[in-house]
Amino acid sequence: MSMRSNMKTVRISIIGFGYVGAGLAEVIRRKRADLVSTYGLDVRIVGIADLNGIFIDEQGLDEAELLKLRTGAKDWERPGGMTTLELIKELDYEVMVETTHTDVTSGQPGLTHITTALESGRHVVTSNKGPLALEYSRLTDLAAAQGCALKYEATVGGAMPLISLIRDNLAGNGVLSIQGILNGTCNYILTRMAEEGLPYEHVLKEAQELGYAEADPSSDVKGLDTAVKLVILANSVFGMNATYRDVEVTGITAITPDALKLADDAGYVIKLIGEVSREGCLKARPRLVPKDDPLNVGGTLNVATIKTDLAGDITVIGKGAGPIEAASAILADIISIYR
Ligand SMILES: NC(=O)c1ccc[n+]([C@@H]2O[C@H](COP(=O)([O-])OP(=O)(O)OC[C@H]3O[C@@H](n4cnc5c(N)ncnc54)[C@H](OP(=O)(O)O)[C@@H]3O)[C@@H](O)[C@H]2O)c1
Repeated sequence: MSMRSNMKTVRISIIGFGYVGAGLAEVIRRKRADLVSTYGLDVRIVGIADLNGIFIDEQGLDEAELLKLRTGAKDWERPGGMTTLELIKELDYEVMVETTHTDVTSGQPGLTHITTALESGRHVVTSNKGPLALEYSRLTDLAAAQGCALKYEATVGGAMPLISLIRDNLAGNGVLSIQGILNGTCNYILTRMAEEGLPYEHVLKEAQELGYAEADPSSDVKGLDTAVKLVILANSVFGMNATYRDVEVTGITAITPDALKLADDAGYVIKLIGEVSREGCLKARPRLVPKDDPLNVGGTLNVATIKTDLAGDITVIGKGAGPIEAASAILADIISIYR
């Protein structure tokens, strides 16, 4: 590996070492040489914190060793009884990656983690939707006041670039609306129901067995997850000051194979579409989508069509979930801080 003379060491902490946190460790392990040669970044994980414990090493932890924690091949530790908040405040590092679970009612524990990191002058990259769906303005104001970055591409559409696409590549465009499928679980269920003529409960069970749906799928199938993602888009792209309670939401639980068959006969599919517009529309509901519309993507894919005043319609399709996919968005956010 050739070292660049203007190499920048970026020390990160990962708070919440579940699927996505471990996915990021795996991605950093795989991409170490590229990060150095292409971006001049020597990215080191200097601390991780989970409910189970903490690991710190200011020279950089070994990702392969950390990944053993997920398989149980390595036991958790907690040096000096350190707490997560002490790590966030006291460790020497530049970027906190927050990947604890999403709680849209309280935003916790992510809200406290993110606030503490920003107050301590750390950049923040997160995949956690709760804090942003509840306190977007306060957090972005705090980040700005502290001169810190707050990045959250992974919260909406997983690997699919949406927020950075609009901010960077479509800069100068006025965005009129964004419509899309932002929940892969619902898309999988509706796709299978339409293809096989199967009832909702049957396909939900299948999705749970395949790991595409949670044991408690209510946040996905009732449209709440889509609503939360819409709110993040509404606030970040359209400057609204919305919370998920402002979204008109209808889930997919009442959709029948007969309804899908009728739609099919008329040249449509039914999809759970999230829509946010400049005029203030904020809706997540099942909608008829023409079969030849770019929004008609199947399986667990996510999709979004961005309507703009200069570029016209731009549609992105991608994987909305998965630890490596979410880590891809997190890594891109980290790199973007140093560009
Ligand atoms: N999975 C995906 O494909 C995906 C995609 C995009 C965005 N996201 C979002 O990314 C976040 C992480 O998702 P995930 O699938 O990795 O979830 P996960 O596997 O449940 O990981 C969350 C981790 O946070 C830990 N945790 C909980 N409370 C904590 C605390 N107070 N301090 C430190 N750690 C704590 C949990 O520990 P315990 O296990 O001991 O509770 C768990 O290891 C979520 O907000 C999710 O919505 C996920």
